[in-house]
Amino acid sequence: MTQTKGRKGIILAGGSGTRLYPITVSVSKQLLPVYDKPMIYYPLSVLMLAGIREIAVITTPQDRAQFERALGDGSQWGVSLTFIEQPSPDGLAQAYLLAEDFLDGAPSAMVLGDNIFFGHGLPEMLADAGKQTKGGTVFGYRVADPERYGVVAFDAEGRASQIIEKPEVPPSNYAVTGLYFLDAEAPARARKVTPSPRGELEITTLLESYLNDGLLNVQRMGRGYAWLDTGTHGSLLDAGNFVRTLEQRQGMQTGSPDEIAFGQKWITREELEARSKMFGKNDYGTYLAGLLK
Ligand code: DAU
Repeated sequence: MTQTKGRKGIILAGGSGTRLYPITVSVSKQLLPVYDKPMIYYPLSVLMLAGIREIAVITTPQDRAQFERALGDGSQWGVSLTFIEQPSPDGLAQAYLLAEDFLDGAPSAMVLGDNIFFGHGLPEMLADAGKQTKGGTVFGYRVADPERYGVVAFDAEGRASQIIEKPEVPPSNYAVTGLYFLDAEAPARARKVTPSPRGELEITTLLESYLNDGLLNVQRMGRGYAWLDTGTHGSLLDAGNFVRTLEQRQGMQTGSPDEIAFGQKWITREELEARSKMFGKNDYGTYLAGLLK
């Protein structure tokens, strides 16, 4: 009997970041602060909440060293991080080609390094998606400006019939979020994707290959969730304010890999204590120390 390999994670954190110039001239977008943490902590937390411990971080060659400094090898969180370079931003689907050796026949969950998710029931929703062994699961989220995203078209029965990248006339208000649970076939299917008119290997083309074979589950992420954008100066600030509002009101962290690792029992009390000491008496360090009480 062949056994299904455990699901591995990919964080796609390359790209040119030109929309946030001049901030991102010298710093990768995914390392910018979202209130009190680097942006990449949030998507990393999503993969960790999904129970994934083997994760590849895809960066540009020039930003790799900074990501390695920011995240280390992951052992402080009980996970293993592998860094892979994307020489040029040739599209989201290219991640599956670059990560093929890393995946080594395992199914994957890929999250974009600039996507922030928040909501009650997120761990359960991730667990459900992770259980699927054949095909893929993506999440449709209602937005006011779907033309900026990959958009889902639904047929008369409410089933997803098409996914269109940045359509001029969106067929619905449901954008496909940057979180993709795909089976082990993703690299083989990605090899068949040809560049779009804008010269990119589009994730939507890869998703359509699953959809056309009846293998894509488009799960609606309801209004009780927040899916935040960090693509413009304004939305980046809004995301930071959102996190600040939540954290101040609740006295709890959002998107803390340290807290999640401790909750998953991937690190010991001693290891969490060492981390809290590293941050000293600032709010983050004090919060981690509080978890030990
Ligand atoms: O955020 C969700 C949307 O992400 C989806 O709805 C779209 O279907 C999908 O194409 C993507 O759209 P964007 O316009 O947001 O893609 P963008 O080019 O901004 O890239 C998203 C992230 O991936 C960004 O953090 C940079 C990174 N990236 C992008 C490309 C093209 C890479 O690491 N490598 C790349 O080659």
